[in-house]
Amino acid sequence: MHKLVVISGDGIGREVVPVAVEVLEKLLPNLKTVKAEAGWDCFQRHGAAVPEATLQALRDCGAGLFGAVSSPSQRVNGYRSAILQMRQALQLDVNLRPVRSWPVVSAKQGVDLIILRENCEGLYSGREHLEADGVAIAERVITRDACKALALRTLEVAKARNARRITLVHKANILPLTCGLFRDTCLEVLEGEGWAAQLDERLVDLAALQLVQQPEAFDLIVTTNLFGDILSDLACHWSGGLALAPSLNWGQGIALAEPVHGSAPDITGSGRANPLAAILSLALLLRYRWLDEDNAKRLEQAVESFLQQEGRADFGVDTTRVVREGVLAAL
Ligand code: NAI
Ligand code: MG
Repeated sequence: MHKLVVISGDGIGREVVPVAVEVLEKLLPNLKTVKAEAGWDCFQRHGAAVPEATLQALRDCGAGLFGAVSSPSQRVNGYRSAILQMRQALQLDVNLRPVRSWPVVSAKQGVDLIILRENCEGLYSGREHLEADGVAIAERVITRDACKALALRTLEVAKARNARRITLVHKANILPLTCGLFRDTCLEVLEGEGWAAQLDERLVDLAALQLVQQPEAFDLIVTTNLFGDILSDLACHWSGGLALAPSLNWGQGIALAEPVHGSAPDITGSGRANPLAAILSLALLLRYRWLDEDNAKRLEQAVESFLQQEGRADFGVDTTRVVREGVLAAL
């Protein structure tokens, strides 16, 4: 039986997550769900953005769906982003973000790529401090173990989709130690497993330009934490936008599905929140965590036929309702 920890979080997380769970329940009638809390609102009520009970529920079930968190841009004593805490505490060491063209006017046709990024360290390792008045320092941590875990997941995905190209994205010319370790470790694993002919590399700034100019040319992109975060928001423009961008935080025996978007305070409560990114994140959980390709495809095909019929993903103040009804009907 499939078990899913359901963490709505903040803002539109509370609007999109229940719809995505309802869709998954239609697909998997025996699904068992466990509700848990995390986020800014949770921090304000309990003094912890991720209570231990939430981490334990995720360890017990091995799978979860997280909506979004509202993180303030200024420093708040005792607070750290809930999603970063969950990634690090549960060693969800890889983040997988596919970008494919959906049949909507806002998408560019012919794009089908996956960005795989390291998910726990890099510039997001949380090692940031004030050195002196007017001097703040963030440490960029890169370890061989984390790069190796990323390269091994890349192999898995590359084999499953018969990848034509694997592009390592880094900035090893300027950061020879950190990006150098990332590059060397990934090359060693991927070349050692016979993927030398498909391997390619780009400096991150050129990769950004080429993702704008010719996104069709990319297949698998493998990169570090911050670079992957930025490039995946850029790339998801071609799929139809943030409302259609899913992701999977992927560890050993545990994965957390998560729409790429945030808590969208500008549209919270308006009916405009699109649940497609959350729904498509569950397809990633089915495919990569539960190894259930049939149901992953069924879910993606339901989304595809709904979008094909409508030709758009934005229905103004009726978006949440129209998408919910449309996808449930197409399943
Ligand atoms: P955002 O993703 O929340 O919103 C960006 C824009 O996209 C907004 O105009 C929003 O209305 C729109 N949008 C996002 N998701 C949508 C959806 N499903 N349907 C329709 N429109 C959608 O990013 P923003 O504004 O930079 O951040 C807002 C808050 O979210 C911040 O507190 C930030 O810290 C947090 N955040 C959390 C993330 C997470 O939980 N992983 C990721 C990014 C931001
Ligand atoms: Mg992001």
